[in-house]
Amino acid sequence: MTTQLQNLRREYQHAQLDLTTNTDPINQCEIWINEAIEAQMPDPTAMLLATANKKAEPSTRVVLLKGIENSQFIFYSHYQSHKGVEIAENPVVALNFFWPMLERQIMVKGQVAPISPALSDAYFELRPRASQIATYASHQSQIIDSREDLLKHCEKIAAEFQDKPIPRPKNWGGYAVSPTYIEFWQGRESRLHDRIAYTRIENTWNVKRLSP
Ligand SMILES: Cc1cc2nc3c(=O)[nH]c(=O)nc-3n(C[C@H](O)[C@H](O)[C@H](O)COP(=O)(O)O)c2cc1C
Repeated sequence: MTTQLQNLRREYQHAQLDLTTNTDPINQCEIWINEAIEAQMPDPTAMLLATANKKAEPSTRVVLLKGIENSQFIFYSHYQSHKGVEIAENPVVALNFFWPMLERQIMVKGQVAPISPALSDAYFELRPRASQIATYASHQSQIIDSREDLLKHCEKIAAEFQDKPIPRPKNWGGYAVSPTYIEFWQGRESRLHDRIAYTRIENTWNVKRLSP
């Protein structure tokens, strides 16, 4: 296995990136995300979300980016999930987008906070009813006895609300990440990759090239 893994490698030659690419990293994120969507990447908006508890023990999971609003990255989740508890303890996160076919990665670090209940309501209403029921039924990250129990719970909720709208559970909603650091990685030939890093200093972005 190890030898097999040690011999797995490929050359990156899809594109290039330099310091003059864009002075606005938020706009550059939008461009790359749009290009990932247009290139029909699977789950083009999937991003790894890293959190850490107050003992600085890290954890990661994938969530979906649901918007970039006012220069903030928006995702939705359960506020009492594992990630939600860690965010409440330590509201600093990292995000990572990886599009293998485009040979690109974006890494974001920033402060995170819940969005307003009104905005969470607005997005919840847009979701398919089955997703709303599943969200209402789930106590995300808690241990459950069986899948059957979960399905029965969903059926019960569907029957309880019948033709009425499913209300947004108060412990589910959006988070907004306000970036302080954004780094773009474009794979290049012979491991001489392009890395362009933007650090926010008050309201401006300081841009630097990093060694691969
Ligand atoms: C492609 C993909 C998209 C996902 N999107 C979300 C999402 O938007 N929100 C969410 O809470 N979980 C999402 N999940 C599930 C999370 O990865 C994770 O299992 C869940 O949020 C519980 O994480 P936690 O126990 O660390 O809080 C997604 C998983 C995958 C693989």
